[in-house]
Amino acid sequence: ITGVASNVVWHETAVTRNDRPTRGMTLWLTGLSASGKSTIAAELERRLVTAGRPAYLLDGDNLRHGLNNDLGFSAADRAENVRRVGEVAKLFADAGIVAIASLISPYQADRDQIRRAHEEAGLSFVEVFVDTPLEVCESRDPKGLYAKARKGEISDFTGINAPYEAPVSPDVVLGPAVDDPAGTLLRLVQHGAH
Ligand code: PPS
Repeated sequence: ITGVASNVVWHETAVTRNDRPTRGMTLWLTGLSASGKSTIAAELERRLVTAGRPAYLLDGDNLRHGLNNDLGFSAADRAENVRRVGEVAKLFADAGIVAIASLISPYQADRDQIRRAHEEAGLSFVEVFVDTPLEVCESRDPKGLYAKARKGEISDFTGINAPYEAPVSPDVVLGPAVDDPAGTLLRLVQHGAH
């Protein structure tokens, strides 16, 4: 069975979103490995929590140690990875928490699906493109993965031998030239300005 299982009924709950003390939303950071997504996301989470706003970082790398430890890097596994984290982000956002997802999430269709799911639920979804050029990411290579991929030791490595589809119409574009990228996102969350 795919999709909604038969004999499963959706239950309305007694608490509505308006009953909750804070508003949630999802910020979705997409970009190449070593583009700076996780650093920006972690700094944003720190600043929001310091300011008293509930926020939670959903980092692709970290979630692959638990929730997604059965998934690899084929297109199908990445789609499932993105789908699961998207659903978790939606739950956090519904609960009044600012969900900050940081995943390569290389396929536009997978990201669009998450946006649609949020919109259907009446939740804000902000697609943030961390637009760091491949040459810059490769020169950083903090985990030595680009070097391994170039030597043919990793198959399906994003940007080298697997695709990255840059966002078609991102809500925010960040990159090495942007001063204080976490601050840009913080202002967006706090004032809705971007
Ligand atoms: S995806 O595409 O959204 O499912 O990827 P994600 O969950 O964000 O995981 C990316 C991190 O996994 C490491 N890694 C790889 N990345 C890309 N391609 C391949 N083949 C691969 N193998 C391992 C890599 O360290 C990524 O970490 P970040 O933090 O993005 O650098």
